[in-house]
Amino acid sequence: MTNPFKGLTIGTRLLLIVLVMMLLTLTSSFLLYSHFEVELLDEIQGQTESLSKALQISVQQLTSQGMSDDKLLNDYVQRLSSKGVKEISILSNEKQVVASSNLSKIGKTLGTARLPRHGNNVIITGTLEDDDTEFEGKKPYTLDIPIIVDNQKRGYVRLHLLLDDFQQIIHDALTRRLLATGIVFLVGMAGVVALSFGVTRALDQLAKAAGRVAEGDLSARVRSTRRDEVGRLGATFNTMVEKLLEQRALESRLRRAERASAVAGLASAVAHEIRNPLNLISLSIDHLGTEYGQADEARAAEYRKIIASVRHELNRLNRMVSDFLSYGRPPRLALRPCRVDEIVDEVLSLTEAKARDQRIEIVRTIPAGLPVVRADPEGLRTCFLNVAINAIQSTPAGGSLSVGAETGRNGAGESTVSVTFRDTGCGIAPADLERIFDPYFSTREAGVGLGLAITQRIVQDHGGEIKVDSSPGEGTTFRIDLPSRGPQTGAESLSAA
Ligand SMILES: Nc1ncnc2c1ncn2[C@@H]1O[C@H](COP(=O)(O)OP(=O)(O)OP(=O)(O)O)[C@@H](O)[C@H]1O
Ligand SMILES: [Mg+2]
Repeated sequence: MTNPFKGLTIGTRLLLIVLVMMLLTLTSSFLLYSHFEVELLDEIQGQTESLSKALQISVQQLTSQGMSDDKLLNDYVQRLSSKGVKEISILSNEKQVVASSNLSKIGKTLGTARLPRHGNNVIITGTLEDDDTEFEGKKPYTLDIPIIVDNQKRGYVRLHLLLDDFQQIIHDALTRRLLATGIVFLVGMAGVVALSFGVTRALDQLAKAAGRVAEGDLSARVRSTRRDEVGRLGATFNTMVEKLLEQRALESRLRRAERASAVAGLASAVAHEIRNPLNLISLSIDHLGTEYGQADEARAAEYRKIIASVRHELNRLNRMVSDFLSYGRPPRLALRPCRVDEIVDEVLSLTEAKARDQRIEIVRTIPAGLPVVRADPEGLRTCFLNVAINAIQSTPAGGSLSVGAETGRNGAGESTVSVTFRDTGCGIAPADLERIFDPYFSTREAGVGLGLAITQRIVQDHGGEIKVDSSPGEGTTFRIDLPSRGPQTGAESLSAA
């Protein structure tokens, strides 16, 4: 279930809390007051009825034959006591107790009753007066009521009243009101505390994430489901870090590209200068080999061995110079319809001897009838050769290299031909995976690190893509996707160049 308060601003929420608290306080006060009023009125009514009853009984007692019936009096007092009347006595004109609910007082003479002034008829009136009598340690109010029948004062009715019942009601009402107000404020405070706790926790999280970003860790993110200002702040923070990350990646790509282009420029300049003397050395070595052979057979064999190793190193130097030159040179693609399977076969026949020497099995699984691809065959040969040589260099004896091809479609929906090179070699460490296409990145001692950089550039110039998937210790798969139609943007200018 979605929380309807989630989208509210903190200000609105605080306002709501205060409003709810105010409403609750008002409602509870009103309800308590109404209840209290009803109870008080009931009590007063009860007391009044009791008093009139008591008086009625007393008058009956005084005016009836035999004056008093103690039992009857006691019965009434029992019933009245619950209404605050604690003791009733009937006094003669001489203030002597004629009858009383307190039997010990019968026959005793009590203090003077204050006599009110009155007319001729039966008038019942009373005055509250102090008395020594105490009930459960509480001092009662004493009410003396003269009884006048036929203009003749017959005696008094003395009532001892305890007004504690009223006090109890007032006290109860106060307690309840305090309790209700306390609960309302506790609820309000809990709401405010919960709100501020949520806000401070989210802000704390944000501060920690900002601290991490300040230290350069751009993986810091704020996780929050809030939709208020704090939630929006967190989302903006995340977007900001995302942008910083993009910018950092862009800067590093730019730096790499700048460095690569500077190095490539320098490398091709140097390679250009080296190429001519290299050619001269190569020709001279060939000449030495044919013209200046040794007569002595043993020395002739040694001589041929030295010439062969110099030639081998010269070839390596030549290859490096070509790599430097081709990487530093703008792309030149001579596009024409090519049969990818034929180019792969050419490459495999070139690497066959090396693979055999290293006891690596080459498995060819290219289906017949692959569509023709518009491409530069020299460029593709370089690509396939670089990838195949890398695989053979990285695979120990007894391993295998499987070369396959298939048709498919790329992200733009164009039909493609994909060539895969799967080896069972040492694999690539995850940290190196993103650097293998960088120029001059190599883990091999004799490697220049241009093979894959050149390959990637040629593939991209064809509008294709090269992908790698590797598990260290298990092997590596390179996949080259080429669009059948060839490069779509600037293709003609590239091929014409
Ligand atoms: N099939 C593979 N298995 C394991 N590692 C590979 C494989 N192919 C490439 N690599 C890694 O990628 C790095 C870069 O390859 P790249 O071909 O660009 O350079 P190189 O082979 O080291 O040198 P060269 O310029 O002579 O080709 C290699 O040094 C190697 O660490
Ligand atoms: Mg290589």
